[in-house]
Parts: sequence; structure tokens; C-alpha cells
Amino acid sequence: MPPPVLSAGAVSLVRYRGGETPLLLAAVSESVEHLRPWMPWAATEPTFEDLDEFVSRSVSQWASGEEFNYWFSHDASPELVGGGGLHRRIRGGTLEIGYWVHAGWTRRGIATAAAAALTSAGLALPGVDRVEIRCDEANRASAAVPARLGYRLDEVFDDPITAPGETGRCMVWAADTASWAPRT
Ligand SMILES: CC(C)(COP(=O)(O)OP(=O)(O)OC[C@H]1O[C@@H](n2cnc3c(N)ncnc32)[C@H](O)[C@@H]1OP(=O)(O)O)[C@@H](O)C(=O)NCCC(=O)NCCS
Repeated sequence: MPPPVLSAGAVSLVRYRGGETPLLLAAVSESVEHLRPWMPWAATEPTFEDLDEFVSRSVSQWASGEEFNYWFSHDASPELVGGGGLHRRIRGGTLEIGYWVHAGWTRRGIATAAAAALTSAGLALPGVDRVEIRCDEANRASAAVPARLGYRLDEVFDDPITAPGETGRCMVWAADTASWAPRT
């Protein structure tokens, strides 16, 4: 299991333990238009029940080692400023990192700091030698995160469109144990 809390400068990534739904609902409700172009789950505004289900699922998936979802806090705020995690969606040995940031907290380096911490935590897990960040070619803000962290662009392939901002060309950015230089 990765650590339950990851520190990334002013940003902390905190494992969901249950009870975070009100904080998550506030952040998602304030950000839904910003998330909608890229996140399929923001197509319609998620309800308390939807997000409560996500939080419960995150708790059980952590226990089973399937997914490791975190919420992001910032030293300057009592609110939830984003979310992300490590996902076993790909072949064994490779984890995928996902992230989103509250609409009011973008362009302050939060996604970059969180992705750096997730990369180090993912590559430290037994049996994991590669992490990927996948995003649509049109999602410039998302692609800038792995580019800044020194990931390499491994592949671009045709992928079904699942959110309205997408072109259907999916970029696969990769980092592996041998090449990853952790940022502090
Ligand atoms: C993508 C996202 C997570 C970036 O979060 P963030 O905390 O603003 O990112 P950072 O501050 O760490 O910035 C990373 C880079 O992206 C750039 N960037 C941020 N927002 C941008 C925008 N709207 N357009 C172009 N570049 C942008 C930053 O300038 C920075 O690059 P630089 O230092 O080379 O200039 C955020 O925009 C978001 O939540 N988007 C909607 C959800 C999403 O797309 N998730 C990813 C799905 S693959």
C-alpha cells in the first residue's frame, strides 16, 4: 500500500477514509463546468449520493489494493482543492495516475506537485515499474503536468471520445523506475 498521506510542499494528498463527501461535493459543485470538458463523470452535476458512493468505493478499493484515491488539501485552505490517485487500469506492473484541481485553485502547481508525489509513491510499490498519465491531445493543461515532470511521450493513439473537450487522440506519458528523478 502507498502511504495514507503524501506531502508535496504546500499540498497534501490524503487517503479517503469515509466522511469526506461534503467537502468533495462543495469542490465538485464549484468546478463542474471546468471539469466537464475532460472528466466523463462531470457530464451531469454529481449528486451527494454519487460522490458518497465514490468515497465508499475508494475506501474499499484501497483495502483491496485495486485503486489508491486521495483528496488534495492545501496549507492555505480548509477546503478540498482537488483529487487524484493511482489506478490499476492497465497491465500488471503499470499504474495510471489521474488528477483534477478545483476551478479556483488552478495554475498554482497543485497538479504538478500532486502528480510528482503520486509518481514516487506508485514506483515505490512492489511489482510496479512504470506509471502513465493519459490525456487527450487537446487537454493542454493536463499534458503540461507530465511534460514538466520529465515524463516521456510514449504513444498517441485513437481512443473513444468520452468527454466533450476530447479529440479522440489519447497521449500516453510514461515514467519508469530507472528514469524517474523524484522532485522534492
Ligand atoms: C489539468 C489540471 C489538473 C491542471 O491542474 P493545475 O493545478 O492547474 O496544473 P499546474 O498548476 O500544476 O500546471 C501545470 C502546467 O499546466 C499549465 N496550465 C495550467 N492550466 C492551463 C490551461 N488552462 N491552459 C494551458 N496550460 C495550462 C501551467 O501553466 C503549467 O505549465 P507550465 O508551468 O509549463 O506553464 C486542471 O486544469 C484540471 O483540473 N483540469 C480539468 C480536469 C482534467 O483535465 N484532468 C486531467 C484529465 S487527463
